[in-house]
Amino acid sequence: MIDLQLTDKTHDEERQGEALVIDAPLVRNGRKLYIESYGCQMNFADSEIVASILLDQGFETTGDYKEADVVFINTCSIRENAEQRVRNRLSQFGAEKRRNPKLIVGVLGCMAERLKSKFLEEEKLVDVVVGPDAYRELPQLLSEVESGHKAINVLLSREETYADISPVRLNGNGITAFISIMRGCDNMCSFCVVPFTRGRERSRDPYSILAEAQDLFDRGYKEVTLLGQNVDSYKWKGADAEETAETEVNFAQLLEKVALISPDLRIRFSTSHPKDITDEVLYAIAKYDNICNYIHLPVQSGSTRVLELMNRTYTREWYINRVDAIRRIIPGCAISSDIIAGFCTETEEEHQETLSIMDYVGYDFAFTFSYSERPGTLAARKYADDIPEEVKKRRLAEILLKQQQTSLFRLQQFVGKTVRILVEGTSKKSDKDFCGRNDQNAMVVFPASEGVKAGQYVNVHVDRCTSATLLGTVV
Ligand code: SAH
Ligand code: SF4
Ligand code: F3S
Repeated sequence: MIDLQLTDKTHDEERQGEALVIDAPLVRNGRKLYIESYGCQMNFADSEIVASILLDQGFETTGDYKEADVVFINTCSIRENAEQRVRNRLSQFGAEKRRNPKLIVGVLGCMAERLKSKFLEEEKLVDVVVGPDAYRELPQLLSEVESGHKAINVLLSREETYADISPVRLNGNGITAFISIMRGCDNMCSFCVVPFTRGRERSRDPYSILAEAQDLFDRGYKEVTLLGQNVDSYKWKGADAEETAETEVNFAQLLEKVALISPDLRIRFSTSHPKDITDEVLYAIAKYDNICNYIHLPVQSGSTRVLELMNRTYTREWYINRVDAIRRIIPGCAISSDIIAGFCTETEEEHQETLSIMDYVGYDFAFTFSYSERPGTLAARKYADDIPEEVKKRRLAEILLKQQQTSLFRLQQFVGKTVRILVEGTSKKSDKDFCGRNDQNAMVVFPASEGVKAGQYVNVHVDRCTSATLLGTVV
């Protein structure tokens, strides 16, 4: 939440505030766009669609909002603190706008959808508010603003998947990329705002997904991550490739089709839902070497009673059964999770059940959150947010501590072994080191050596590890 898995950012927070920059467009209009994104990977993927739409209008992107004509902030509503960060950032943009009154400030994404026109009332400096399904309207909305009006479009759609828009890859490493395969969510977990901010679930046409993956591979990319709030419920119905008959494609079949593009293209995906992940998906992962042995399978809580209040529609036993199936069908598969501490009415014993399911699974890592009530959700309407803040904090700390120990234990299993990794580039800490991930999504750092470059698969002997990283040498 993404910051679901996959990024090596903090494991306990959604990604926040990265500015995204790319090369200049072909035809310029002399204006510059600055876009900053918060929240899950899907939001980051959306920013690439937004940039693509504005590039078509002749915009260039910039990494410095002080030189921009248009500043967009693509927002997240998942927890109260995510929204607070956006508000703080908006006040900085406000200061800039006082200096440069022509600057257009736009709020996109989930907070735009949640607050709608209230945003324009609450934050006077904001000129335009656009929900996640209305990005095609951005050029018109910007023209409205230029003619002196505030502009808003927060209509949700049952069809929009932006299938035909080829996203520009912002700030990418040229090696790994995200592909959205669906939008929205029909699940209604009681704590979650996503069904309200993203609308109904819809699956994107598989041919456009395959074309995008093929195009990325042709341009030198070596890894794609298929994104959706619940990838296991991917389902598309339509004409087959020859347009002669009706066909249906489910997630396992989609995975297979993407895997067949090339054995040198790695496939990851996120997020899997415990109620929907099928053995068919697990067998597809087991069958293809290039589908990574890594599943993000958020448990949220280890207590069946709490899971029921959360409306997760599975029990502790069901979850354990799915984990057992993963261990049986894909030996060595890494599993990660999202866990919420202190959901409404959670008792001490139920918190212990979360700790014990963590022991049972032995997560490779987990994103951990303390429960944050979101206005309008089922839980906000039905249950009191009755766990005191300090109790939530203590439970969260216990969960975090257990996860740190487990992550270390998991990574230690690789020490002394040789792992195959995809080189992503130089490490963040030192440009004398390279980094990349193994099949199980563990980050591996090793000294740069001659002949090794980004985009290559190399074998690395793991010499030692921290609780977050494997350290090794190329063999
Ligand atoms: N679709 C994914 C999750 C999307 S949101 C899934 O079903 O697993 C990412 C994570 O944020 C969730 O898994 C949950 O752990 C957390 N989260 C969502 N709403 C929250 C809230 N109100 N308070 C605290 N954490 C929350
Ligand atoms: Fe939210 Fe549940 Fe949908 Fe995930 S599956 S996005 S937690 S409602
Ligand atoms: Fe993602 Fe945050 Fe929206 S997690 S779907 S950006 S509420």
